[in-house]
Amino acid sequence: MPIPTETLPSPKEITRALDRVVRGQRRAKHDVALSAYRHYMAAAYRERYPHLRHPFGRHHVLLLGPTGAGKTHLVRSLASILGVPIAFASAANLVEAGYVGEHIDSVFRRLYLATQRDPAAAARGIVYIDEIDKIRRQEVGGQRDVAGEGVQTTLLAPLDGCPIEFRCDDAHVTLDTTNVLFVCTGAFGGLADIIRHRLGARRTLGFMPQGEDVHALSDDELLARGEMQDLETYGFIPEFLGRFPIISTVQSLSRDDLVAILRDVDESALVRKRRWFQAHGIDLTFENDALEELADAAIRNGTNARGLERMLAKSLSRIEWRLPDLADEGVTGVTMTRAAVRGDAEPLTTCRVATRAPRKGAAIELRRAAQQLLSRRREETAWAPPPPLEPKAPRPMRRPGRRRRGGPPPNGDSCLPFDTT
Ligand SMILES: Nc1ncnc2c1ncn2[C@@H]1O[C@H](COP(=O)(O)OP(=O)(O)OP(=O)(O)O)[C@@H](O)[C@H]1O
Ligand SMILES: [Mg+2]
Repeated sequence: MPIPTETLPSPKEITRALDRVVRGQRRAKHDVALSAYRHYMAAAYRERYPHLRHPFGRHHVLLLGPTGAGKTHLVRSLASILGVPIAFASAANLVEAGYVGEHIDSVFRRLYLATQRDPAAAARGIVYIDEIDKIRRQEVGGQRDVAGEGVQTTLLAPLDGCPIEFRCDDAHVTLDTTNVLFVCTGAFGGLADIIRHRLGARRTLGFMPQGEDVHALSDDELLARGEMQDLETYGFIPEFLGRFPIISTVQSLSRDDLVAILRDVDESALVRKRRWFQAHGIDLTFENDALEELADAAIRNGTNARGLERMLAKSLSRIEWRLPDLADEGVTGVTMTRAAVRGDAEPLTTCRVATRAPRKGAAIELRRAAQQLLSRRREETAWAPPPPLEPKAPRPMRRPGRRRRGGPPPNGDSCLPFDTT
């Protein structure tokens, strides 16, 4: 939901709004909020002083860090807070202009379509390119690197705000990208080793405190110490990196963060599950150590928050399957313990059963409405269930040796498509 305000929200206001949905990632939230603030202030400033192309410098953001730690979630939330359109692309699919594959103009087409074909709205949107690490320079056996360095070069023009032309249906659209904010993200596997190597060499030269052991630093700590030269070593051209004055990182999420993502964040997976149980008249409670069990499983899998929703769903699947029956039996509360999450105990053992007479069908109204919706659809679309299957007549047995190999079948049917002999 956009912040209701007459002035562009300040970096602090944007960060506060992000805090409600994105747990941890303090540095990334600060960097992204500040970049967006500066970017849209520059857009307004340029309307007064059009001769200044980059009045406050450039603002695009490169965001690095482990998978599932909230990069996409953060930027999607930013777009929603500011009320600007956003288009997503994966750099892994992009190819250099002029070669077969997905081109950057298709991302702008998506942005345009996200605004119901309003070029003015699209021109102030966010272009989010994920897996940007996939366009690092690649050795392709002396051939042109059209999916790596070629894409980096192709992106320079839109990153500079040059107009983009594309076809949308039958229309020819020219989109001014001066005010489009680019956020590029990636996990950058292997970058930590490059940074470690550089820091190790620096230590040898006496630039780092002798007491510090670079091999003891975690990947998160190393990424936070990354510099431009590391990204160049990784395979990015300086011209591309120069378009990103802000290079920020997200960190792996701690156990507390993961528990808080389930428990405290607006519209978390747990909030949605609670609402789902509540629709059946049942309060769902997770004991703290049950939430920690889910967080520990996510840490073990190395998926950060990405797997939480699936793990939560898995832990509840058995009891969820019986939800309408439990509601009919008068169950009003389900408590999940650590053992229930592990599957070592029946979740029902922690159910609080109403002492009063069972409230037959707490979800009955919603179920009735859902059934009516199905019937309504059926009338609207004139959909009719298929007629019952006729009992099959027994197929005549084919007499061996009657059909020539590759020739038409004896009953005159055409040959099977791949039968070319
Ligand atoms: N810091 C966080 N705070 C709240 N929710 C989070 C956070 N990180 C991840 N999530 C949840 O996990 C899901 C996956 O996160 P997201 O897609 O943002 O990961 P990512 O960093 O973009 O990973 P990848 O590198 O694989 O694209 C999000 O949709 C969100 O629900
Ligand atoms: Mg992502």
